[in-house]
Amino acid sequence: MSKSADPLAELFAAAKAAQTNAYAPYSRFKVGAALRTPSGAIYSGGNVENAAYPEGVCAETSAISAMAQAGERRIAEICVVGDGAALCTPCGGCRQRIREFADGATLVHVAGAEGVRATFRLSALLPESFGPGHLPA
Ligand code: THU
Repeated sequence: MSKSADPLAELFAAAKAAQTNAYAPYSRFKVGAALRTPSGAIYSGGNVENAAYPEGVCAETSAISAMAQAGERRIAEICVVGDGAALCTPCGGCRQRIREFADGATLVHVAGAEGVRATFRLSALLPESFGPGHLPA
């Protein structure tokens, strides 16, 4: 099967590749994220920790930065991959960062090493959210 024949598998593969280059020497918990924009392009990133612990960034944040730097402003869907038995759902801060470029219907896929484990609408992860539309024009 070609990569584009299974768009979710392609997104998962990009997240998994990003996970390998995550920098997580402190938590030893590498996370990868990959998002697709309406153009069809995929942007990915991994968590990048820091000796000054609070300065570390999550994988989702890295992927969003890559998207923004490419001039894109819309997340169509996003996949996050982390190891372990628990679902690696985005942290609260990243839910809000995703919200900036997405809406409640946007799909958030949560994966483990073996593949996608669960899919949520952003509205389920961040109900009654505040977004760009709440600010006066
Ligand atoms: N982390 C992410 O990058 N994304 C998530 O969805 C959950 C947590 C990172 C932050 C930190 O570097 C490590 O995982 C442990 O919390």
